[in-house]
Amino acid sequence: MLNDATTYISQLKDNVGQEVTLAGWLYNSRSSGKIQFLIVRDGTGLCQCVVEKGKIPEELFEQLKRLGQESSLTVTGTVREEARSVGGYELAVTNAQIISAAEDYPITPKSHGIDFLLKNRHLHLRSQRQWCIGKIRHTVIDAIRRFFNDNGFTLIDTPIFTAAAGEEEQTLFGVDYFGIPMYLTQTGQLHLEAAAMSFGRVYCFGPTFRAEKSKTRRHLTEFWMVEPEVAFIDLDGLLELAENFVTFIVTEVLQNNKDQLETLGADIASLEKIKPPFYRLTYTEAVDILTGEKTKNFVARQLEDLKSQKQQLETKIAELEEQSAEGGLKQWQKDKIAAELIGLSSTLAEVNTGIENNPRHAKLAAEFQWGKDLGGSDETIISQMHDKPVFVTHYPRQAKAFYMKTDRDNEKVALNFDLLAPAGFGEIIGGSVREDDYDLLVARIKEQGLNVENYDWYLDLRKYGSVPHGGFGLGVERTIAWLTGEKHIRQCIAFPRLMDKIYI
Ligand code: 4AD
Repeated sequence: MLNDATTYISQLKDNVGQEVTLAGWLYNSRSSGKIQFLIVRDGTGLCQCVVEKGKIPEELFEQLKRLGQESSLTVTGTVREEARSVGGYELAVTNAQIISAAEDYPITPKSHGIDFLLKNRHLHLRSQRQWCIGKIRHTVIDAIRRFFNDNGFTLIDTPIFTAAAGEEEQTLFGVDYFGIPMYLTQTGQLHLEAAAMSFGRVYCFGPTFRAEKSKTRRHLTEFWMVEPEVAFIDLDGLLELAENFVTFIVTEVLQNNKDQLETLGADIASLEKIKPPFYRLTYTEAVDILTGEKTKNFVARQLEDLKSQKQQLETKIAELEEQSAEGGLKQWQKDKIAAELIGLSSTLAEVNTGIENNPRHAKLAAEFQWGKDLGGSDETIISQMHDKPVFVTHYPRQAKAFYMKTDRDNEKVALNFDLLAPAGFGEIIGGSVREDDYDLLVARIKEQGLNVENYDWYLDLRKYGSVPHGGFGLGVERTIAWLTGEKHIRQCIAFPRLMDKIYI
């Protein structure tokens, strides 16, 4: 039905003064008697289509006036530049065709609670916010593939069904594989190590699964991870690779998605500062920071900031409530206030949670004991204290996975690292040099209570031409949450899988 005569909204800039036909959905509309403003979206952008009485048949004018949100239609009209219009161009409508009229679309411009939106994710994907995130995700994934493809890495597809744990056993999802217990992969790393001994530099990229029993903003049960693995590399080499990689992703998003970042209210100025070298701290230095005076003062200042934010939000909410109670407002003005109120209330709820958690997080940091893994709140504090990503290296061996290489200069720690994104986002990468000594690796597998037999093939890699090697994994959703300023990573994948619920 639709042919070459259809123009995409993204192409309007090349068609000023010409008559074009758009095909899309009615995103929003308002009418003031003789003139209607239809906001149409077509997957490439939004366009305001101006319909004037008398310029199209009367019957069509009335049909458009009654047309429900998310109805599908084609609109024909002349393109004109209009800086005040969404996207900078608008259409002076000369004709339209309704393809399918929608009634009572459940997601109104008024805004809704997150539970409702997750239940309606199949429809909420059409919202501006989810669309912007989806476009950014596309760029991130494209940048990931391009970075490795252009730097001599070979893509290896590692299996989803696995026989043994790659990370903590507690987070394995079991599968009944024709009567044999198997698991969904937590990481492609172990298989990738085998491939690195054939190809030198490899990467895998796909969904990974963790039965994480924590309902945090940073955890999904199914998430996408890209993992490079390199033969003949040391810890410094890995850090350099990781910072160049992350910088490339940020640069690509800034280049391709500025508009979307702006719409989402992302901190573009901070992203523009992301250039190597990133900060480097050892775990021991991180612990000193957490337990020191500087952190104590920093967390106390944060509490003061949160309290003042709370006051400002409460004042603003009271003002809007008063305005809306006064009456005399048009429907679109009421909707606008209602949407603003829901947004402000959700920010207030977050601020209140921050105020509630602050003393506990301060205590956890102050009493942090060397030897434990950094917790979510500890990572948040360290990352809030930095304006660029921070590498934390040399974690205690006991707190981390069996495959990480013991530092020969200090056997208490491993040659590993996490990369914390700045401004409170926390860990986006985990990686390490791998234990390449057969006997030490067997000892580590046993120490962690794992069954050595399950790792026979993996141990072979240490028997036949073992070399120093290492790699890391970057979580796609966490990276997108950081870039977009999204609080919860569930917004950064089209159909999220959460511990307590799969909605769609
Ligand atoms: O630190 P992790 O567990 O590292 C590994 O899986 C290594 N085997 C990777 C490697 O060296 N090849 O996970 C890596 C990253 C984390 O930094 C985080 O970004 C993401 O994967 N991640 C999660 N993202 C969302 N939900 C979860 N439950 C996640 N668990 C880890």
